[in-house]
Amino acid sequence: MSLPTSTKAWVLTQYCTGPLSESENFALREFPIPELKDGEVLVKVQTIGLEPAMRPSYSLEKSYREPTPLNTPLWAFGVGEVVASKSDKLKTGAIAYGLFSMSQYHVAGPETPFLMPVDPKIGKQVLSLFAPPGLAAHVGLFEIGELKKGDTVLVSGAAGATGSIVIQIAKRVGAKKIIGIASKRKLDAVLADGADEAVAYDDDDFEEKLKKATGEDVNLYFENVGGKVLDAALGCMAAYGRIAVCGMISQYDSIGGDRNSFEGIKNIRYILTRRIKMQGYICSQVNDEAVPKAIKDLGAWAHDGSVKAAIYTHPDKGVEHCIKAFQGLLTGANTGKMTVDF
Ligand SMILES: NC(=O)c1ccc[n+]([C@@H]2O[C@H](COP(=O)([O-])OP(=O)(O)OC[C@H]3O[C@@H](n4cnc5c(N)ncnc54)[C@H](OP(=O)(O)O)[C@@H]3O)[C@@H](O)[C@H]2O)c1
Repeated sequence: MSLPTSTKAWVLTQYCTGPLSESENFALREFPIPELKDGEVLVKVQTIGLEPAMRPSYSLEKSYREPTPLNTPLWAFGVGEVVASKSDKLKTGAIAYGLFSMSQYHVAGPETPFLMPVDPKIGKQVLSLFAPPGLAAHVGLFEIGELKKGDTVLVSGAAGATGSIVIQIAKRVGAKKIIGIASKRKLDAVLADGADEAVAYDDDDFEEKLKKATGEDVNLYFENVGGKVLDAALGCMAAYGRIAVCGMISQYDSIGGDRNSFEGIKNIRYILTRRIKMQGYICSQVNDEAVPKAIKDLGAWAHDGSVKAAIYTHPDKGVEHCIKAFQGLLTGANTGKMTVDF
């Protein structure tokens, strides 16, 4: 088989200042594929995963990560076939996983984060289990939220990639009660993952229903959404409750734009009166042991069947659909991990 000499890849052409636009902020460009150096492989990308965290890095706002450089292939976790190899570890024909790019082909090597062969029993689930969703769920529950058997656990974004894994881990550990928050149309998925109750944030009496479902006795709230969902959750915490702030997806499309488009929080006083501990974290930056421990546990739990990553495949196949799929991710089109097959 003759190898390609160039690849199409998405780049950012202009930083986002509000809801992103494919034509104004991005372009699909052709890049030459460099010759492989020792230790490197050429991967024909089969599937990529899209992460909400890409959105903050598409703006110039100061964050935990530098803004994405313009006109450079965008990062994305991917799975693909090794079609050329100068590596002892990944031979031609192997299926590899790693932090690749939004491209048809990606040159990976010793410097590529997470580069590893894909365990056939895990397959595409690797894009969720060993990627930000699985790692954030594990690190957030154990390192930040101090999850214990008998806790009442509340999770928002519960039908998403991270939320689904949070529910399954909390169940595995023996939480007393698990309540998931999602949109009305995704409540069944939340219950199917093992939540005891599912509450819709798009119901008119959301706050009342959440209070009833939680009994205002939440020991650990796993926060994925922010805005009015965080506001309602604050009013449902038990004394000395813990809040692990993993994400605030409802606010991301305002980053870099008008500050009045962010939602305010009215229930912030509960942090004091209920003596709540609330901490944000980035799963890869908590401590050196947390991510390897998460990968070890999640791999074992995927094998024993106690944790399964839900994978959502975007209906349109091909690199050209990545940005459309990403816009869908930011508006809740996916149930489970948003992926695009090439
Ligand atoms: N801290 C870390 O290290 C880390 C790592 C990974 C992910 N994260 C964060 O974790 C969160 C979840 O990520 P994910 O990969 O699981 O994303 P995901 O699979 O897209 O799930 C997000 C869920 O949030 C819900 N959602 C979207 N917009 C919403 C809104 N305006 N209001 C309420 N719910 C909304 C969506 O479903 P419905 O609205 O339809 O229910 C969706 O199911 C994100 O905030 C992400 O940034 C953080």
